[in-house]
Amino acid sequence: MDIEFITTYYSYFLEGAKITLMISLFGVIFGTFLGIIVCLLKISNIKIFEIVSSAYIEIIRGTPLLLQLYIVYYGLPMALPFELSRMTLGTIAVFLNSSAYIAEIIRAGINSIDKGQKEAAKSLGMSNKLSMRYVILPQAFKNVLPALGNEFITLIKESAIVSVVGIHDIMYNADTLRGITYKPFMPLVYAALIYFIMTFTLSKAIGKIEGSMKKSD
Ligand code: ARG
Repeated sequence: MDIEFITTYYSYFLEGAKITLMISLFGVIFGTFLGIIVCLLKISNIKIFEIVSSAYIEIIRGTPLLLQLYIVYYGLPMALPFELSRMTLGTIAVFLNSSAYIAEIIRAGINSIDKGQKEAAKSLGMSNKLSMRYVILPQAFKNVLPALGNEFITLIKESAIVSVVGIHDIMYNADTLRGITYKPFMPLVYAALIYFIMTFTLSKAIGKIEGSMKKSD
């Protein structure tokens, strides 16, 4: 490993890691909000909502993230009267993509809650809405926390795609370094190392949280 290389250029990787983390974090946070909404529409028993939300999930999961990124990046600015930054557009594409996967995660979480919980809430006089809000969703959310953590890890890796529209994430900066140093290989190794440190640390942390949650149950 080339020590001089990393001491000279480490800031590229640091700045890139910041951007990658931000896109992934906002991706999973906004994706969770939208995912919950899409999921609730899908299980709403209202035909039109079911159709629209199912179509949304299937289309997002059935098309490449790269294509979705291009559509958002080039399409959205044409539809909006104001300008959005590159970073915002990239984050929007990532969180829209993520929301479809998260909707299904949340649905699995809701299904995992015992029917007795809903019946108990009903017997206390709660409406469907109230029992969903105060009884089912909080428990479901707790059950799906590890899966949401895994989605975060997925986004850290998948968000490398935003480099193609010029967002300065780890991948983009590694490519820049390949150009300015004429070293076509080493920057890629360092980029891989940084992605791996991020995902490995997170996955260990999620494992710990999952373990302590099991204990508290
Ligand atoms: N590479 C995948 C695609 O092209 C992205 C999958 C994103 N997955 C996710 N859980 N958000 O569609």
